[in-house]
Amino acid sequence: MNISVVDIINNLAESGRVVIDDFLGSDQTRKIFTHAQDLNREAHFTRAGVGTAHLHTVNKQVRGDSVFWIDPDSGNSAIQSYIEKMRNLIEGLNRGAFLGIKDIEMHYACYPIGAHYEKHIDQLQVNGKRVLSAVFYLNADWQPGDGGELRIYDEDGQSYEDITPQAGRLVLFLSNSVYHEVLPVNKERYSITGWMLNQYTDTTFVGITAKV
Ligand code: OGA
Ligand code: MN
Repeated sequence: MNISVVDIINNLAESGRVVIDDFLGSDQTRKIFTHAQDLNREAHFTRAGVGTAHLHTVNKQVRGDSVFWIDPDSGNSAIQSYIEKMRNLIEGLNRGAFLGIKDIEMHYACYPIGAHYEKHIDQLQVNGKRVLSAVFYLNADWQPGDGGELRIYDEDGQSYEDITPQAGRLVLFLSNSVYHEVLPVNKERYSITGWMLNQYTDTTFVGITAKV
């Protein structure tokens, strides 16, 4: 990791986002990449939808990726080390910024060639449970012509930063206010997309505090 928790918190406070490189070692990241590709080849991914659980539609125009929700008890050791890193990060964020994050939910995402995700925010409901979005990229050797940049908008909604989805990179941003999009990809693009939650879920991922 190239950045301290204090700097992560400062970046989030200033711009609503932060980029963390080498969040996980390259060997572990490669193992996770292979795991995701295997699951996708074995047809375990499903087309992603948009909207809430009550209003769920699959719309290729808006969002072209396929996803696989990760099981926190997955026996995959590389996934377990990723979860462990997440737990440490969340503990640091809670200690340093009183974010009150209780848990996380996460899925693999694969954008096939030509897919994109239109400009959106991740938390539409006023009292939703998503606090921070955490996208971790898996493709090694992502090249400038491969597309698929994460475009994150500033508060003014006009100026933006384009972030290359390269292996080992974790991007955190505020789920309820930061607009972002995924530009069309020219190469199959893999990530783990996660959301840090201010509520417990049915399946405890990081178990920050014991459930009552
Ligand atoms: C999302 C999303 C960004 C990315 O899944 O909601 O915005 O870079 N993903 O994959
Ligand atoms: Mn999003």
